[in-house]
Amino acid sequence: MQPPSVPTPPKSLVTPPEMRAHLDACLDQAGGWLSFDQFMAEALYAPGLGYYANALPKLGQMPADGSDFVTAPELSPVFARTLAKQVSQAMALCGVDAIWEFGGGSGALAETLIETLLQDPACRLKQYVIVELSAELRARQQTRLLPYMSRLSIRWATEWPTQLAAVVIGNEVLDAMPVSLLVRRNGRWLERGVSRVIPAEAAADWRLAWADRPLQTPPPRTIAGEHDYTLEWHAQAQAWIVALAHAMDRGCVLLIDYGFTEAEYYHPQRHMGTLMCHQAHRADTNPLVAVGLKDITTHVDFTAIAVAAQDHELAVMGFTSQGRFLINCGFLEVLQSASTEAQVQALKLIHEHEMGELFKVLILCKDRHTVDVNAAGGFIGFTAFDRSHTL
Ligand SMILES: C[S@@+](CC[C@H](N)C(=O)[O-])C[C@H]1O[C@@H](n2cnc3c(N)ncnc32)[C@H](O)[C@@H]1O
Repeated sequence: MQPPSVPTPPKSLVTPPEMRAHLDACLDQAGGWLSFDQFMAEALYAPGLGYYANALPKLGQMPADGSDFVTAPELSPVFARTLAKQVSQAMALCGVDAIWEFGGGSGALAETLIETLLQDPACRLKQYVIVELSAELRARQQTRLLPYMSRLSIRWATEWPTQLAAVVIGNEVLDAMPVSLLVRRNGRWLERGVSRVIPAEAAADWRLAWADRPLQTPPPRTIAGEHDYTLEWHAQAQAWIVALAHAMDRGCVLLIDYGFTEAEYYHPQRHMGTLMCHQAHRADTNPLVAVGLKDITTHVDFTAIAVAAQDHELAVMGFTSQGRFLINCGFLEVLQSASTEAQVQALKLIHEHEMGELFKVLILCKDRHTVDVNAAGGFIGFTAFDRSHTL
């Protein structure tokens, strides 16, 4: 029997007037041109208006719930229950009792992680800290985690700590950080930005357009050939990992996201870049419409993150696909406790054509602790199928 069809709420393709006015003000202030990273920062994080900052549902399983995309913790609690095994071992190995989560989304990952870890009598967890750019998502996380507040310290941080001692987790955070777009057209490199199109006859027909400017400095990496090419540059993600490396005193960093090593990412044949938008669980490549109403994202260059980390005393301790990582952590064992229906859903986390291969997991730890971690046999999520050598 077919399940009854659930009506999907229609999503607007028109940039809301408040966001238009905000972008107008930003463009006016910047002389009529915003670099793409400036535009992406406004489109996603402008207070109250940006995609992550407004009250729209965003994360969820189906278009019918008003959401735009699903992440692993939203897809199945089996993700966080399995991740808890790595987090627990990492806390013991590194001698820390805090988790710092960056970009907590709906709070789904925090909720299941806390619930799972507190069930273990040997659990060291005493403190859960979330760093979240969006005030709207912070409020959702606070409501969701309220029942756990009496059982451990839960707080939201707005500044980098000094001497951070924690297991740091970022699930799909790097992909939400603004990028610059550099384009090679007819052999010449340009920086891609955004400007406003104002038709002489109808100022009401508000529209944004791509606007490319000559690049003042050579592109940060060489792309073989002369053909047209779009290069994404993740300066903010690299600055973020450097800031984290400086803050970190003890512990490790687990980053989970879709992305590639640089050899795959910047392959001359992958000339279109990876920029994507998500609305109502459909992907498109036009971030200039429905601004603030859809997610804008790029894949992660894991080599750049690993190199920036290594240059600042955070060593790469493992890199593998999400599927391999979860299996190493005991996914199949965790799966046993789920219902058949929940198992079908959870298997998407490891299937290669779903989230199992495109998503990668990178683990970093302070240089001076690598010897101890290796002596203890390394991090459990990377015991087999480690691909660190491909970075
Ligand atoms: C794609 S969502 C992922 C949410 C959640 N981690 C999940 O997997 O469901 C990206 C999240 O990262 C947050 N974010 C982006 N940049 C951030 C930063 N620099 N620091 C903290 N949070 C950030 C966004 O506000 C949002 O909560």
